[in-house]
Amino acid sequence: AKERTLSIIKPDAVAKNVIGEIYSRFEKAGLNIVAARMMHLTQEQAEGFYAEHKERPFFKDLVGFMTSGPVVVQVLEGEGAIMKNRDLMGATNPKEAEAGTIRADFATSIDANAAHGSDSAESAQREIAYFFNDNEICPRG
Ligand code: CMP
Repeated sequence: AKERTLSIIKPDAVAKNVIGEIYSRFEKAGLNIVAARMMHLTQEQAEGFYAEHKERPFFKDLVGFMTSGPVVVQVLEGEGAIMKNRDLMGATNPKEAEAGTIRADFATSIDANAAHGSDSAESAQREIAYFFNDNEICPRG
């Protein structure tokens, strides 16, 4: 079924100047970018986005990294978009990511792992609403 998922190009990938390369991978996989914004997250925004990880030992480093520079946030739409995006990204830890995935090619550590993608329909819905109003989403065809 047609789905939407929330994707973030993280500060490390923005700093490496690979926004376009990552967008190309989405497009070549048949995903449409239906909303997009570049922004520098505040600590409050990053903490709220990752609230489910609040008790995890890596939370502080995660928030510190995600606020270290600008990110690009987008909504991807297409058939099976949630899994498709996760397949394109590869494993969370770039050391475990399959060759040819975004994280294998661009990530440097588990925090500086180039991209985020929603992990379920429920988180996609919450994460999309966290960044975009309905009237900022521009579906095609
Ligand atoms: P992301 O998909 O953005 O969701 C949470 C992030 O926490 C994850 O990618 C990683 O960048 C980061 N992180 C750091 N340490 C861990 C860990 N041990 N397990 C999972 N995520 C981690």
